[in-house]
Amino acid sequence: MAIHPRPVLPNKNTLYLARSGGGKSQAMKQNPQLPKSGGRVILWDKSHDHKAHHYDNKKAFTKAIKLGLKSGKGFRIAFSGGVDIADFEWFCSVVWVSLDGNRLTYVIAEELSEVCASVGKASPFAARLLNQGRKYGMIFHGTSQKPQEISKTYYDQCPFKWIGPQIGANIKKFAKEIGGKDDDIKALDDLEFLVWDGRQAVKKALKYKK
Ligand SMILES: Nc1ncnc2c1ncn2[C@@H]1O[C@H](COP(=O)(O)OP(=O)(O)O)[C@@H](O)[C@H]1O
Ligand SMILES: [Mg+2]
Repeated sequence: MAIHPRPVLPNKNTLYLARSGGGKSQAMKQNPQLPKSGGRVILWDKSHDHKAHHYDNKKAFTKAIKLGLKSGKGFRIAFSGGVDIADFEWFCSVVWVSLDGNRLTYVIAEELSEVCASVGKASPFAARLLNQGRKYGMIFHGTSQKPQEISKTYYDQCPFKWIGPQIGANIKKFAKEIGGKDDDIKALDDLEFLVWDGRQAVKKALKYKK
């Protein structure tokens, strides 16, 4: 059970949307909103894109989370053994019981399309995290190549969007959404983003970092 609700906490959830190779994982690594050290970070990271202690085994992962929470210190613990929605639901349930409104907990989830059955509501525990995690100190950062391949729960509950290189109809979609021109989106190269905060978009060009 998540504890110590603090309804005053802001929604800082962030979604990274770009074609494969567009730089989503790099953007997550370089976003200053995510703690470099000292924060509590739990990751769904099958491809080992991020620096963390990775576990393929559920028991070992849960044990590491428990020890991390008990330590009172920061940690970066990743589950890399997940293959389907059922595994992601289990992961989200572990995150949910780890939340404490008195401490921030960052959740990083790579390639959300693999754990979404439709563009409708997210699976139950994932929806609970996105809809209610904020007041228990959760800050969610997730990636997807296309908005059409993920549940709308993620899209709606992430006020911050890093919009990278797009293909097809999504060029127009994002241009319209940010009140810009198609060319603003078309011009984006790999590792280039328009960072949208719900009101304005700021261009960011990243350099690849190991
Ligand atoms: N060793 C490297 N040196 C320079 N650039 C790299 C290297 N590896 C990957 N990149 C660049 O980083 C980008 C991939 O970023 P990444 O965040 O992994 O993309 P995504 O997560 O969107 O698939 C590509 O544009 C690629 O050109
Ligand atoms: Mg990636």
